[in-house]
Amino acid sequence: MDQIRWVKVFESQIALENFVPHLRTNTIMFDGRKVLIARTSKGFFAMQDKCPHNGASLSMGKCIDEHTSIVCPLHRYHFSLETGRGLSGVADAGRTYPIKITEEGVFLGIKEFSWKFW
Ligand code: FES
Repeated sequence: MDQIRWVKVFESQIALENFVPHLRTNTIMFDGRKVLIARTSKGFFAMQDKCPHNGASLSMGKCIDEHTSIVCPLHRYHFSLETGRGLSGVADAGRTYPIKITEEGVFLGIKEFSWKFW
């Protein structure tokens, strides 16, 4: 069974909005890796910065609003910011992180797997 552990990364939504302008990306260190935060018309998305194809920095790529995706700057493959999956015939997929915005701040979620024996 998957559980999500939430970790606070910003004090407020305003701080997040100032960190990532519309159709831009920025990065934070999270869960021991560089994670990109992207902002589209659908909201904010978090995904591993390291391209699942060959390791380029996705945060150096371009956000595509109509597909809610990011284009890798190296080979120009497109990846969904919602699922991390490749959109242009690429089998690779990157890890995504859910974002929760509350009055207490902005949180990224880490999915943790736990075995449950009955
Ligand atoms: S390294 Fe990103 S598409 Fe190849």
